[in-house]
Amino acid sequence: MSTLFVCVSCRREGDPSEPRPGARLFAALSQQAADLDIQPVECLSNCTRSCTVAVAAPGKWTYIVGNLDPEQNVDDVLQFARLHGASADGLTVWRERPVHVRKNTIARVPPMPTVKEPS
Ligand code: FES
Repeated sequence: MSTLFVCVSCRREGDPSEPRPGARLFAALSQQAADLDIQPVECLSNCTRSCTVAVAAPGKWTYIVGNLDPEQNVDDVLQFARLHGASADGLTVWRERPVHVRKNTIARVPPMPTVKEPS
């Protein structure tokens, strides 16, 4: 299972609404995804392209996805997190990803290398 980190601090420029859009995104995702590990975090350092999530799992590539709207992109995030969870290495097939994810992937980060114990 992949972990979905959701920035709950995200707010769009000029949007003073409370709860913040990031918190609304986290709440909406949490309500619809009992099968996923969803964790709130504060700031994924993608503030100018918020809202932001990161999808990660041990031994897999991590994806950062931005420009998410809590009212428009919940299904996109859930679909991508499930694709990531089902993949062997986190590298999902590009054309199977939701369009929003294809167009708003901010970065991907390779899995941590396995630490070799000294012999
Ligand atoms: S406040 Fe959400 S990425 Fe910085």
